[in-house]
Amino acid sequence: MWYFVSPQIVFGEGALDALDELQGHRALVGTDATLVQLGLVDRVKAHLDKAGIEMRVFDAVEPDPSVQTVCQGVQVAREVEPDWVVGLGGGSPIDAAKAIWVLYERPDLEAAEINPFVPLGLRQKARLITIPTTSGTGAEVTWAIVLTDTQEQRKMGLGNREIAADMAIVDPVMAAGMPPGLTADTGLDALTHAIEGYTCTWHTDMTDGLCLNAARAVFEFLPRAVADGSDMEVRERMHNAATCAGLGFGNALASMAHAMGHALGAMFHVPHGRAVGVCLPYTVEFAAREAPGRFAEMAALLGCTQAEGEAAARSLAARIRDLCREIGSPTCVAEAGVERVALEAHLDKLVDDAFNDTQMVATARSPSYDELRQIFMYAHEGKPIDF
Ligand SMILES: NC(=O)c1ccc[n+]([C@@H]2O[C@H](COP(=O)([O-])OP(=O)(O)OC[C@H]3O[C@@H](n4cnc5c(N)ncnc54)[C@H](O)[C@@H]3O)[C@@H](O)[C@H]2O)c1
Ligand SMILES: [Zn+2]
Repeated sequence: MWYFVSPQIVFGEGALDALDELQGHRALVGTDATLVQLGLVDRVKAHLDKAGIEMRVFDAVEPDPSVQTVCQGVQVAREVEPDWVVGLGGGSPIDAAKAIWVLYERPDLEAAEINPFVPLGLRQKARLITIPTTSGTGAEVTWAIVLTDTQEQRKMGLGNREIAADMAIVDPVMAAGMPPGLTADTGLDALTHAIEGYTCTWHTDMTDGLCLNAARAVFEFLPRAVADGSDMEVRERMHNAATCAGLGFGNALASMAHAMGHALGAMFHVPHGRAVGVCLPYTVEFAAREAPGRFAEMAALLGCTQAEGEAAARSLAARIRDLCREIGSPTCVAEAGVERVALEAHLDKLVDDAFNDTQMVATARSPSYDELRQIFMYAHEGKPIDF
């Protein structure tokens, strides 16, 4: 038995107007300080004012939010007693807002106890709206939460189907001001979701089309979005692609590039999209040796090659590296700023953390411990995987 979970999604330019009709009294917006400065929080306030909803802001969310930050946000929620929680931002504020909402509803729980198997009984006090300001994570539609355990320097994947927002507002205006580097990083996250969602062993008939469509859109529109962020049609296509990829992988799973990227990101503070994007071609090549089928199918559907099997999967990896070069993103972990001595010093922990990451469960070809060590080293040097 499988589920497909999605919020109601309002999308396209002007989607923020949906807030004008909201029923309620008080909204707590979880966001970060940059988005306050950029005026994006004020935009939301203008709409909530029209709806007669009082807005309070918790803007202390850092990139890759920690459990401690979430606990601070829960304190604020207890004071404010909102009937709407709004996650406004990239994946970091959206994930933090999801966790704040769950723990506000369920004061008896700790963040680490949130899991798919225990009913949460949410929506007794408030409901959740998500508004992405990056075109990447898909967190606005997924029921996952990624928090960082700062002491252990590792990312925790939490989630429960009840956490899917009541409404996701996917308005490209909110992402239009992203600088090129952030556009590239987050766009590669969307691509990684699309390719991993399509090729993981948990993919379904419900998720395939979304992933394929999103991958096609990223290859077409990401270079244009990086080159000229003022083109609103391109921004809109990327914003929609990220949400489609979020629905796709969120109702399937990601794979080894996410497991490796989470480990690298938590240890070396490489931004999420850059970390998973840099691991993606190596993940494709590793799977290509033993499980090329889905990769080859995707490569054919994307028009990368007429070849079949492993050769086709390798063409897909080459196409991903070409895209990275075109948008100025790293194609190996060294280029992402991690020194070889640092990688080697932490290799055991990186391999352990990647192995234990929930995203590893549905990977098309499972690596052994030694293989994963080698994959990290190859990915560092930029050597295509040949085993
Ligand atoms: N829950 C999920 O399903 C899921 C999926 C993928 C990733 N994630 C998580 O999401 C986080 C990464 O999110 P992200 O990549 O969106 O970045 P982010 O939310 O960490 O933001 C990165 C930076 O970009 C800035 N920013 C955001 N929007 C902007 C805009 N429109 N203009 C200018 N600056 C802007 C932020 O202020 C911040 O400084 C990671 O913690 C990752 O683990 C969650
Ligand atoms: Zn991701």
